[in-house]
Amino acid sequence: MDDRVRGRRKARGAPRASSVSVGPSPEYRVAPLDDTTWPAFARLVEKHNGVWGGCWCTWFHTMAAEKTRTYEGNRALKEQLVREGRAHASLVFRGDDAVAWCQYGSPRELPNIYHRKEYLAGMVREPDYRITCFFVDRDNRREGLASLALAGALDLIAQAGGGLVEAYPQEAPAKKASGSLLYSCTRGMFERAGFSYDRPKGLKHCVMKKVVSPAS
Ligand SMILES: CC(C)(COP(=O)(O)OP(=O)(O)OC[C@H]1O[C@@H](n2cnc3c(N)ncnc32)[C@H](O)[C@@H]1OP(=O)(O)O)[C@@H](O)C(=O)NCCC(=O)NCCS
Repeated sequence: MDDRVRGRRKARGAPRASSVSVGPSPEYRVAPLDDTTWPAFARLVEKHNGVWGGCWCTWFHTMAAEKTRTYEGNRALKEQLVREGRAHASLVFRGDDAVAWCQYGSPRELPNIYHRKEYLAGMVREPDYRITCFFVDRDNRREGLASLALAGALDLIAQAGGGLVEAYPQEAPAKKASGSLLYSCTRGMFERAGFSYDRPKGLKHCVMKKVVSPAS
């Protein structure tokens, strides 16, 4: 990946690079989701009616008993977590518009994964980070932006000190699968980013791992 990384390095769990330019195209840049990029993130979510019927990308943050289950409640929760530095994502920008994201965070920040019981039974070591959710503007899909968002997330993790990163993509989706069910993307995409297969998770997903070195 031809990337140039600028910005400060912070403690694990609180990456705050000023920006990350990724890939050969100067058209896109990647920046962390934080209080300065929240308005652009919110515009992207609002354009898609809250994403997943008003989830605001909160599903993985909360266990069942903590869920607000309303558009406004989820929006407020997400904003609070972002402003407190407890919700992380790489945001892909074209100009001033956010067009994609890749959500990542520690297991403590993102406890609510699918097939949790089966996952915990097979877990040898808890990862430092997990990658849980992707979203790309409906006007920009199938152009590689999810892959770009993943590259940006891995850069931000490296800047935060690196560590063991897990992802839970679909094994082999149909060539034209429903975009909303592909929120964790594909095994092939993670293989290209240097992840290795660890074990199955549920019927269609798997656990994949990569050790990310600290940025120098
Ligand atoms: C799934 C999604 C992130 C893919 O983004 P994208 O930018 O179009 O993906 P890319 O072009 O980078 O392709 C990444 C991989 O996904 C595959 N892919 C993308 N859309 C696909 C589709 N509709 N069907 C099958 N495969 C698809 C690509 O073939 C590629 O796979 P490969 O590397 O194994 O060949 C996008 O469709 C999306 O945002 N869907 C909505 C997800 C959602 O609702 N998330 C929020 C939950 S809160």
